[in-house]
Amino acid sequence: MSDSARIEFDGQTFEAEVLTGTEDERALDIRKLRASTGLITYDPGYVNTGSVRSAVTFIDGEQGILRYRGYPIEQLAEHSDFIETSYLLIHGELPTTEQLETFRQQIIHHTLLREDMRPLFDAFPRDAHPMAIMSAATSALSTFYQDHYDPRDPDDIQVSIYRLMAKLPTVAAFAYKKSIGQPYVYPQNSMRFTENFLHMMFAVPAEPYQVDPEVAEALTLLLILHADHEQNCSTSTVRLVGSSQVNIYAAIAAGISALWGPLHGGANQDVVETLLEIRDSDSDTASFVARAKDKNDPFRLPGFGHRVYKNYDPRAKIIKEAADRVISKLVGDDPLFAIARELEDVALSDDYFVERKLYPNVDFYSGLIYRAMGLPLDMFPVLFVLGRLPGWIAQWREMIDDPETRIGRPRQIYDGAGERDYVAIGDRG
Ligand code: CMC
Repeated sequence: MSDSARIEFDGQTFEAEVLTGTEDERALDIRKLRASTGLITYDPGYVNTGSVRSAVTFIDGEQGILRYRGYPIEQLAEHSDFIETSYLLIHGELPTTEQLETFRQQIIHHTLLREDMRPLFDAFPRDAHPMAIMSAATSALSTFYQDHYDPRDPDDIQVSIYRLMAKLPTVAAFAYKKSIGQPYVYPQNSMRFTENFLHMMFAVPAEPYQVDPEVAEALTLLLILHADHEQNCSTSTVRLVGSSQVNIYAAIAAGISALWGPLHGGANQDVVETLLEIRDSDSDTASFVARAKDKNDPFRLPGFGHRVYKNYDPRAKIIKEAADRVISKLVGDDPLFAIARELEDVALSDDYFVERKLYPNVDFYSGLIYRAMGLPLDMFPVLFVLGRLPGWIAQWREMIDDPETRIGRPRQIYDGAGERDYVAIGDRG
């Protein structure tokens, strides 16, 4: 196999070295292209652009493979827990017992928010989308730690990682409590990570609350499955924003905003809203599939399709099995789950979806589990945030440590007006 490619242009030859990854992924190194030829590349949505070399996560979209630091997602889902998976992503190796305990303790130690943060939650309207609160509060966190967020200081990085991992669940639970008008429930550091989060979400001061181990287990599974997904929109946002050397809180806040969109992490909310619409309308699943295919209708089937996977998303496979178990245990028969399975069957036997290799993605069944746990729709993307956080952190850290990192700054092809002279307002026709 050749180890370079040639681009001939205007009598000049540019020789691009072929870079090969661990799993034989190949890329043209065009870093000197513009300097040598004056050409830039044009690639909206970065569909063909490798922006980094990364050792965090590997995806083979054709075969439906996902690995964190080399470990298959199926094995982590079965054997690991969220804190251990977070350690793996952030530090690159599975921890020893001692390393894991220290990591856990450090996170537990930082779960409280400064009391000065409370009025921030009070300031939002009751119906504020919690993703807006998550992003704003993450940005606001930086204001309390201004002496300890230097992205080039290893100690600052370490404590910021603990703070983010520990405090974002508290922020999420406070955002939820605010939306339903209940008192904020403070973290209980004697509890494990997921149990503590569920307690902050569902406990009330007036009566005791027992965390259902089934719910905690399902949540742990979902957090693990969302923990990283290489250079997706929000992760690329965290890296791009972070490349300006702003503090990590600001970079993660930007990632949260990117994740909110319905084409990304907001899809889990969208899926359940669509299932409710199907349930409550006179139409059937086939007519929603027909709408998704209609190029004159902006509707797309939420939870279907993926930039990288051209096969069943391995996360969706695990989540579908978990949904079967958890939903029947928690709520019995869920008509929405039946509609989702029917929707999947109709879509997967339709030429449009088959030809385009559109399969259910991570968001197709996850919302149904969140719903069975008693979470409201607009909290679904927030759960995605909590899961994705260690991935963002790992990728941000890799970016900061990488000597090849430069500030993210794409080029453009300008196609606006040519030079023209200013016209005084009275002379404009
Ligand atoms: N329903 C109907 N048609 C679709 C869908 C869908 N869900 N997804 C893709 N297509 C069609 C698309 O119209 C295009 O058709 P054509 O070739 O005729 O123009 C073809 O499939 C290729 O799609 P694309 O838009 O070029 O794909 P993309 O890589 O730019 O977009 C996507 C990927 C995930 C944004 C898109 O599949 C989509 O909008 N899906 C629904 C939203 C969703 O589920 N998002 C969650 C993604 S996974 C988790 C995450 O990132 O958060």
